[in-house]
Amino acid sequence: MARIVKRTRGGPYPVTIGGETKYICGCGLSNTQPFCNGTHKIARQEDPDKLYWYDEQGTRFEHTDSFQGIRCPQE
Ligand code: FES
Repeated sequence: MARIVKRTRGGPYPVTIGGETKYICGCGLSNTQPFCNGTHKIARQEDPDKLYWYDEQGTRFEHTDSFQGIRCPQE
C-alpha cells in the first residue's frame, strides 16, 4: 500500500550514542533509511506553500495546493 506522507523537515536529526553521532533522515528522501545520505539538499529550494514529491531519480514535482489536511510529524 502506498502512502503520501507530508514532511516539512529539511535536514537530519543528529543522534549521539556511545560518543558516536549518526544522522537520522528527517526529510524522508534518503534511500539509505533510516540514515541521512544527503539527499535532503535537493529540497532546499522548496516553497512552504506548495506540496512536492520526488521520483526515484530525484526529479521534483509540485502541486500548488499545500493539502493542509495531510498529517505531518511534529518538529
Ligand atoms: S535528512 Fe533526509 S536525506 Fe538527509
